[in-house]
Formats: sequence, structure tokens, C-alpha cells
Amino acid sequence: MTRELAIVIILFLSVITNSFGDFQDQMRSYHDTLYQRSWQHSSDESKDVNLRMPGVHPIKNDTYLCTAVNLGQRKQYIVGFKPFAEMHTAHHMLLFGCQVPADMAFSRDGKFWNCGDMGKGVCGNQGAGEKIIYAWGRNAPDLKLPKDVAFEVGGNSGIAYLVLQVHYGKVDQFVANPSLKDNSGVDLKTSFAPQKYVAGIKLLADGWSLIPPKKKAWHLDTGCQYGNGPVLHPFAFRVHAHTLGTVISGYRVRNGVWTLIGKGDPQRPQAFYPVKPDKQVDIQAGDTLAARCTFNSMQRDKITYIGATMADEMCNFYMMYWYEPNQNNMETGIPESACLYVDEARLMFPLDSDVPLQGSGVKMQMKRDFAEGPDESGQQ
Ligand SMILES: *[C@@H]1O[C@H](CO)[C@@H](O)[C@H](O)[C@H]1NC(C)=O
Repeated sequence: MTRELAIVIILFLSVITNSFGDFQDQMRSYHDTLYQRSWQHSSDESKDVNLRMPGVHPIKNDTYLCTAVNLGQRKQYIVGFKPFAEMHTAHHMLLFGCQVPADMAFSRDGKFWNCGDMGKGVCGNQGAGEKIIYAWGRNAPDLKLPKDVAFEVGGNSGIAYLVLQVHYGKVDQFVANPSLKDNSGVDLKTSFAPQKYVAGIKLLADGWSLIPPKKKAWHLDTGCQYGNGPVLHPFAFRVHAHTLGTVISGYRVRNGVWTLIGKGDPQRPQAFYPVKPDKQVDIQAGDTLAARCTFNSMQRDKITYIGATMADEMCNFYMMYWYEPNQNNMETGIPESACLYVDEARLMFPLDSDVPLQGSGVKMQMKRDFAEGPDESGQQ
């Protein structure tokens, strides 16, 4: 009898503990699910931003149109770009980050503005904080961000708006067909989750020199010494000049050794081109960044200045890089500002720095970025 009672008690206890165990497991998996959901909610949440021209109908050759998107208060991360160039009408597209756009004309409201010759420009506040973060040109390779690399935008990133600029080179199709509308643009893949690496852009530019007439290969050189910041890993570059530019070369100089980051023909589509992956050029504290622009002014009778008018030139080398944000030394601020001017007379460029690229690429009429005057297409 006591034995039977003991068995009953044991059975009873095992039922209780079992069901208690089940209950605990259930609670645990319930919490796991909740945790996973919230985790997914905060870190996997991503969306695609389709930044498109709202059905525009340009009727003048070389029209530049802009449309904006407001990124809002929350920081987000652009992990991918996909160009959407419609009907072979768009010639060239640039995506800018701005503190404020030159016009509060948003793509989602079907609004846009003229940001060409007679227009308002791209970013407001005299272009404060203006940054090119994507460039697309017909017949140029697509820019792909490396894995785990993202541009930080929105929130306190300094980029509150994105502005899409589309250049319509020839508009004959639009003139011929009054109902033709264009929705060219770029689709952005974004995430609210911080990515492992942050993308940035360094611009090396000569902004004050001049080019004498009748020179076959005139150089404008510029350089800066990288200070105390994270190690930078360049992965794409872009060059920009007007019609006189023949070749632009960018280098890293370390202990007197010059390593090419990229060499570009400014007469080809001025998109971002990949840095050759076998190069493995990294930029560390103490390295110098240097760029040389070479111009042919044989056809000119007068001095050509750097600037924004029709007869001016430009000398720009853009380097797109990634870095590990946790390496960032907060005292030095963002890597872009950690490069201090170097006297270009001290830069001993390699002899082949002004040798143009082999073969001539597709000639590009787009010879201009933001803050530049009318281009000189048609003069050559
Ligand atoms: C645009 O340029 C093309 C070729 O240069 C020319 O044939 C055409 O007439 C121009 N269209 C307009 C609207 O000016």
C-alpha cells in the first residue's frame, strides 16, 4: 500500500516537473521569439528607396534635372545602388548627399527642379556638405559597394537629403514624342542596421591654378598627408575635368614609394571605376595622397583658369574608400578632413603619370558637376 502510494506520488511529481519543464521551455521559446522579432525589427529592417525622376519631359539638349528625397531623423545605411536608366534617354546620373537640397522638390510628390546652367544648383546653402555618393554614366561599369560596406546617411550623418541629378544629353526622342516621360533614377538598398564598414569619399582637387595656352601636357598637381585616422581602403575612383583634360592619376606615397590608386580619362564616362582588387592599396597615417591632372591646351590662345565658367577647367580625383568605424579616432573627426595640404612642388610624380590611357573610350559630353558652368560639349 505504501509502495503503491509512493508510485502514485512519483508519477504525480514527474507529471508536475514535466509539465513545469514544458512550461519553462515554452516560456523560453516565447521569449526567444519575441527577442528574435525585436532583433529582426531593429536590425534587419531594410527597404529599397526608389529615387526616380517623376516622369519628366526635357525639350532642350543638355538639360540637368534634380529631384530630392528626405532621409528623416533616423540614421540609415546605403548598402547597394542599382541604376535605372530608362529608354536610353539619361546620359549621366549623379547622386548627391546634401544638408538641404537647393529646392524642396521631392520625387515622391512628383516634383523636380532645373539644376543646370540657369538652375538653382544641387544642394542649398551654397552647396554646404555636398557629396557625390554615386555616379552613373552610359557605357561605364556599375558601382558596387564591397560586402559589409555602407554609406551612412540620415540622422546625425550630415546627409539629411539625397538629390538625384540626371543629365539629358540629346532630347530628340522627347521633342519627337510629346507624351514621352522619363523615370530614370537609382534604386537604393538601405538598412537601419549599422554595417561592419563605413564608406567615404575623399576629393583631391586643384582649385586655384591656371593652364597656359599652347601646352601639350600641362600638369596640375595636388596632394595631402593623411593624419591620425582609421586605415582607409580605396575601392573606387572617379576623375573629373572639362574638355582639356587628357588623363588624371591618383597615388598613395609611402616612404617615397608611389603606388597608383587609379588613372582615368576624363573624356570617358565620369563614373566610379573600381580600384584594381590586386592592388591592395591602403592609406595609413603618414601616407601622402597625390593626384595629377594633365591638360592639352594646344587649341587655346588664352590662359585657362580653374572655375565655373564656360572656358574654365577643373581637376578632380575622387577616391571612394571603406574603413572600420571602431578604429576611428574621435579626436581626428571624419577621415575626409584628416588629410593636410602638401606643397605640390615637393611631389615627385612618376614619369608615366601623364601618359593617357590606351585606346580612346566613348567620348562623353558631360563635362560638368555641381557648381560648374555650362559645359563645352559641341566645341570639339
Ligand atoms: C540636339 O542635338 C542634336 C545633335 O547634336 C541635334 O540634331 C538636335 O537638333 C538638338 N535638339 C535640340 C532640341 O536642340
